[in-house]
Parts: sequence; structure tokens; C-alpha cells
Amino acid sequence: MTTAAELLELSPVIPVAVIDDIEHAVPVAEALLAGGIPVIELTLRTPIAIEAIQRVRKEVPDIVVGAGTVTSAEQAQQAFEVGASFLVTPGSTESVIDACLATGLPFLPGISTVSEAMRLAERGLTALKFFPAEAAGGVEFLKAIAGPLPGLKFCPTGGITPDNAAKYLALENVGCVGGSWLTPKYALAHNDFARIKSLAKAVSHLR
Ligand code: 3PG
Repeated sequence: MTTAAELLELSPVIPVAVIDDIEHAVPVAEALLAGGIPVIELTLRTPIAIEAIQRVRKEVPDIVVGAGTVTSAEQAQQAFEVGASFLVTPGSTESVIDACLATGLPFLPGISTVSEAMRLAERGLTALKFFPAEAAGGVEFLKAIAGPLPGLKFCPTGGITPDNAAKYLALENVGCVGGSWLTPKYALAHNDFARIKSLAKAVSHLR
């Protein structure tokens, strides 16, 4: 996987994981992989996230591990240094986009408006995260911009559930969706990795 367009094709769902306990990182990645999901986005929202990326990269080499919630240039660089294979940002400031580009990694910059999408397209970035998808217009927004902005592909994230995922995946301009429901807090709190595997199994054939 060397481009953001390829990243959108890896899996119907990119699991967005918020890991608090470093010991959860490897079993979560293994459970997703065992359930047929070959990718994991570890969000940089917890203090152990960078170490978690490093561990998963080393100990679960068959899963593609990336860093999510990249909100600063420094985070982009740190994620790159520990071996993240891709980056995801919730929004698109100039400095964060510059820093992501500087790493050379594929990345999904976040957008929620037409102008943001156009600005990124001007820079050659055509695989984008649509966030927060449900709150920012959902399926109707993506349908409405498909005509004026052909050539852009999205990973809608934020409010995606097993119930609405298929509606997004049916759209021409959607490559995959992102969501945290595959790695729920209740499963993590009880070390219930079998639950994560079965949630992954349930979506691995969505597309
Ligand atoms: C993200 O960072 O992409 C979102 O927090 C995931 O949104 P969700 O929890 O609604 O799936």
C-alpha cells in the first residue's frame, strides 16, 4: 500500500481504535486481522498511542497500522518515525498537511466542506476523510458533491454504524468507511478480543 487511493481499497471499514492500555494494542490488532480486517488506525488521543503503533508494526506485521487524529506537525513526524504506514487527520490545517506530505506516507486529510476538499484537490490530494460524516451532512452531502467534484474519493467517518455503513459504501465516491464500533470500550474493558474478532467478521464482507 503506497498511496492513499490504495488505502481506501484495503478494507470496507478502517477501524478507528482508541487504546488506553498498551497491552491491548497487539491483541486488538490480532483480533481485527483474525476477523478479516487487514488495517487499523490507532488514534493519537492517548499517551500510549505512539508506542502502540510501534508495537503493532513490530508484532503484527500482517496488519497495516496507521496513526489517526493527527492534529500537529510533530505528531505526523512521530508517527512516521515509529513506523506508521499511513496518517489520518480530522481536519486540514496548512501546517498539518505540510507535515503529512513531508513524511511521504499516504494519508487521508479530513474535510467537512466543499472548499476544504477543493483546496486539497489543488494540492493533488484526492483521497479524503469526510469527518464528522453524520453530523456534517452524511450520505446526502457526499451525493451532492459527486457531480461538482468528480475524482475525489472519501472515507466517511464519525457516526458510521453497522446500520448505515452499507448506504455509504454504495456511493461511487466512497472507498471505505471509518469507525470506532469494531473496537468498543466495553470489549476493551473486559479484554474481550473475541468480541472484536466477531465484530470484524461481520463487516469484512460489506463491500
Ligand atoms: C474518528 O476519529 O474518526 C472518529 O472519532 C470516529 O468516529 P466514531 O466514533 O463515530 O466511529
